Amino acid sequence: MSEPSPTALPRIFVAIDRMRREEAAADLARLGTEGYAVKLGLEFFVANGPDGVRAVAGARPLFLDLKLHDIPNTVAGGVRSAALCKPRFLTIHASGGRAMMAAARDAARSSGSDRPMLLAITVLTSLDDADLEAVGQRGPAGEQALRLAMLAQESGMDGVVCSAHEIKRLRGAVAPGFKLVVPGIRPQWAASGDQKRVMTPREAVDLGADHLVIGRPITQAADPKDALGRVLAEIGG
Ligand code: C5P
Repeated sequence: MSEPSPTALPRIFVAIDRMRREEAAADLARLGTEGYAVKLGLEFFVANGPDGVRAVAGARPLFLDLKLHDIPNTVAGGVRSAALCKPRFLTIHASGGRAMMAAARDAARSSGSDRPMLLAITVLTSLDDADLEAVGQRGPAGEQALRLAMLAQESGMDGVVCSAHEIKRLRGAVAPGFKLVVPGIRPQWAASGDQKRVMTPREAVDLGADHLVIGRPITQAADPKDALGRVLAEIGG
């Protein structure tokens, strides 16, 4: 798919994993409005709906992480509805298959020049090889992620969400403009929390990540704006 809009997107997406609107708004107020984009996911969307998303994100670029997965017609409708929130990125599961992704792509295109870019979820990092086998998917997980990333690219997705440890393999296989968006990032000065296989912002960018998703190291910092500034300094803005 062609680029929907020439406006440059920030490299850092700050994950606001909150249910309550006031808490999400407070997190964002501490960060200000510049230098980052905001990621809101299911927890927030289910509790607050599109109006809550629009109210809290304001003018900040938005990543709506809904991870859609259903029959093509239903996912296409979901993409059209989600597009009303004007997200720059929207996620859908690559394992929904080629026809589902193509329907999502067509639905995104129908929302005009400021359409959302579609990011495919390949293999959730919570699944290991045994989990894949249990749901009838062929492992190892790294190979399945690559297979699904290639299918996502062929099906017109704009990029994938991938773990930092997959960047190198995927960057070597996909087209240059195909976006790699990477969570599980921990600056050296932050605690790793429940993320097991982490990487620093600098390492991930050097390997070829286009955008980084960072939550707690920024939102739970004593001074979130300063933490964001330190990450931006580390990756050169
Ligand atoms: O707080 P933390 O930096 O771990 O937040 C990471 C964000 O990225 C969360 O919103 C989480 O749902 C998301 N994510 C992740 N690992 C993945 C995919 C998404 O942590 N493999």
